[in-house]
Amino acid sequence: MSNNNNLTVLDLFCGCGGLSQGFIDAGYNVLLGVDFDKAALTTYKKNHKNSDVLFADLSNAESMEEIEKKLNGKNADVIIGGPPCQGFSLTGSRNINDTRNKLYLAVVKAVKKFEPKAFLIENVPGIVTLYNGVVKQQIINTFEDMGYNVTVSAKPLLAADYGVPQMRKRMFFIGFKQGLGYFEFPKATHTPENYITCGDAISDLQSREEELGQEVDSYIMPPQSPYQEFTRKDSERLYNHVATKHTEYVKWVISQVPEGGNYKDLPPGVGDSRKFNEAWTRYHSGMPSRTIDTGHRNHFHYKYNRVPTIRENARLQSFRDDFIFLGTRTQQNRQVGNAVPPLLSYNLAVAINQHFEDVKTGKIRDEYQKQLLLEINGI
Ligand SMILES: C[S@@+](CC[C@H](N)C(=O)[O-])C[C@H]1O[C@@H](n2cnc3c(N)ncnc32)[C@H](O)[C@@H]1O
Repeated sequence: MSNNNNLTVLDLFCGCGGLSQGFIDAGYNVLLGVDFDKAALTTYKKNHKNSDVLFADLSNAESMEEIEKKLNGKNADVIIGGPPCQGFSLTGSRNINDTRNKLYLAVVKAVKKFEPKAFLIENVPGIVTLYNGVVKQQIINTFEDMGYNVTVSAKPLLAADYGVPQMRKRMFFIGFKQGLGYFEFPKATHTPENYITCGDAISDLQSREEELGQEVDSYIMPPQSPYQEFTRKDSERLYNHVATKHTEYVKWVISQVPEGGNYKDLPPGVGDSRKFNEAWTRYHSGMPSRTIDTGHRNHFHYKYNRVPTIRENARLQSFRDDFIFLGTRTQQNRQVGNAVPPLLSYNLAVAINQHFEDVKTGKIRDEYQKQLLLEINGI
């Protein structure tokens, strides 16, 4: 979408590459994606032809050498990644270096080794309240001690605020090398009044109530909204729009839930097998979707009596239709549900690039840089 900006990227825990996609769209050159999920890497490679992939377990110390070898002398200007955050345990330390969370440490090690100009870490909102905010502070301290200015968004970013038809919330830590100032998170591009809705996102896709469909198919109507025009721009054929085969019982239960409703709208005694918070949730055509998960089958299409297809979930995650998911259905669901919405990633990538531009033109300076300039000028 944007012209090449000459900035290079290394994506750790890359999955199928939702986060990478946003950076590529913003004009970055993503050198390498690293993960230990083979199916996700196959999808990544298919959709990011100019990027390399590395199958590596990032909890292993040797993985950094493997990355170095694969980069083959190229420098990453920006390191991005969303390490899974299970397994945090407090050690009473100022920083997270001696935590047992080896996955977070992989990002720390990579930043130490490759010294990027900037880094971005994505995580679930719970990371900032974990152990009353101690983990969040440890992450900030660790990178500050390594010479980075770290910015954490005041609250989780909401994907819908950036044009994604989904109420997904995620936390981001963004660091710039000292001297390059502090990052400011980009302003929302959308408000609740003009959020992109489920209807805007998927109303052109066939029902699949009578037949499951095939992995590759034709569209049955032209785009019905600007958002659909955007997702279909480079796509002649419809991929991954295959329905799930539900039992008659499931279809019967969900047929009784109105748009935007859930198990609470069911008559007494119906659907009792699932009664937790998000059970039997039907999306609303006039609103963004709930958070797309990795396939727990509790969210249903706003109109049809089935869960969304991979393509519908991909649309709700802001993947364009020419992004094709490979692997079994379970693997595809995991890839889509795990991803950072490319449009959210794009907005951050554009803001990071703008930050670099502002540093170049002298618009952004921090105390460290001011001090250096004073010393250089002998004042
Ligand atoms: C939340 S997903 C990342 C999604 C990705 N950023 C995107 O936007 O598509 C986390 C990824 O970490 C990977 N992962 C978990 N443990 C790992 C390990 N020890 N080594 C390498 N990858 C790992 C998983 O396979 C998964 O793809």
